[in-house]
Amino acid sequence: MPKLEVVKEKLGALKGLAEMFLGPKDVVGIDVGSYAVKVVLFKLEAGAYTLKAWGHLPLGAKADAGPDEKKIAVINLLRAFFIEKGVKVKEVSTALSGNAVIVRYVKFPRLTKLELLSTLATEAEPFIPFDINEVQLGFHILSEIVEDGQKKMETVLVAAKRELVVSRLEILQGAGLTPAIIDVDSFALENVHERIRDAKEGPGATLYLNIGHMVTNLSIVENGVTRVVRDMFISGNTMTKAIMKAFQCDAAKAEELKHSRGVFVDPAEKEKALADGDRDGLGVSQAVGQVARDLVAEVHRSVDFYLSQGPDRSIGRIMLAGGTARLKNLDKHLAQELKVPVSVLSPFSFAKGGEAVPEALAPAFGVAAGLALRQNRDWE
Ligand SMILES: Nc1ncnc2c1ncn2[C@@H]1O[C@H](COP(=O)(O)OP(=O)(O)OP(=O)(O)O)[C@@H](O)[C@H]1O
Ligand SMILES: [Mg+2]
Repeated sequence: MPKLEVVKEKLGALKGLAEMFLGPKDVVGIDVGSYAVKVVLFKLEAGAYTLKAWGHLPLGAKADAGPDEKKIAVINLLRAFFIEKGVKVKEVSTALSGNAVIVRYVKFPRLTKLELLSTLATEAEPFIPFDINEVQLGFHILSEIVEDGQKKMETVLVAAKRELVVSRLEILQGAGLTPAIIDVDSFALENVHERIRDAKEGPGATLYLNIGHMVTNLSIVENGVTRVVRDMFISGNTMTKAIMKAFQCDAAKAEELKHSRGVFVDPAEKEKALADGDRDGLGVSQAVGQVARDLVAEVHRSVDFYLSQGPDRSIGRIMLAGGTARLKNLDKHLAQELKVPVSVLSPFSFAKGGEAVPEALAPAFGVAAGLALRQNRDWE
């Protein structure tokens, strides 16, 4: 299928390979989430980014539909958005994550990029838990090192199940768009990190938690380079499910409770809720708090893994992204549990003018903003 060949090239374009082919300069970043599709278009003028267009397109009831129905819903949302906003740019960068995407840090013997390209499937096979014939592969060379007297390359390998790639392409093409880059959610966030990084920030790596609806993307960025990528399935929907169970209510009611309440972090707040008989507040805090604690346990595992990989490593800060970053007090709760400063991502803080994204929605745009940044960083 010729389409797949195109994808192969595009996935090869992942990060470092992007400069190998000349593409259009403007790309629209499209993050197809299970809860909402996020769209971002920047324009780079005189060294400054302007936010030209953005869209937060919730799937609503279609979020629970079957894959085909959902696909059509996303196509319709995107079509309507491009028409309504009059966006002329049709080239798109998009990202994947979840259990059909594998990111591995692998040391290969030193090869040229072309040699690696031609032997990639063979070299990669031992590291990929899927049938190598059913995946699209991409790689990025991080650095060249000498280990045991041998020259090696530290490489990031990405394998995405072809099914998932094809399905994403079908959505974008169905909406009349041209897929130009396929990235990974956590790597898209790295682009935003580069833009918003405080030059005076203290030591230690930044841990990103992009807490969406079905998946949480965890990544650890050290000196601008992502060193750990892991996806876990404790996320916004897990919280909604916990509330449904606690309150014996439907998903819509549970979402409403989740959005209006949150987790108690201050004992005085909890005491007041007890005294007032605030059963909703107490119930939501308990249900959501348990999910947050499960998340904390997973974060500890990833941090331990990262710390065990070398000396002088530490986590300096945690950045929350994704719609669930807005859960009331989640930042404070995580800071208490993990004993690291926690902030909520503001992914447009570097952009000027344009139409502002409401603060309540902004953290959910981390991936889409990072995707929209791909144009200038990689192709110029
Ligand atoms: N104010 C809020 N309080 C709590 N949760 C919120 C709030 N706003 C949004 N959410 C939750 O954020 C989640 C959606 O976040 P996001 O848009 O990042 O997900 P997604 O990218 O569509 O999903 P995924 O990447 O997991 O497929 C939903 O579970 C939603 O209920
Ligand atoms: Mg998402």
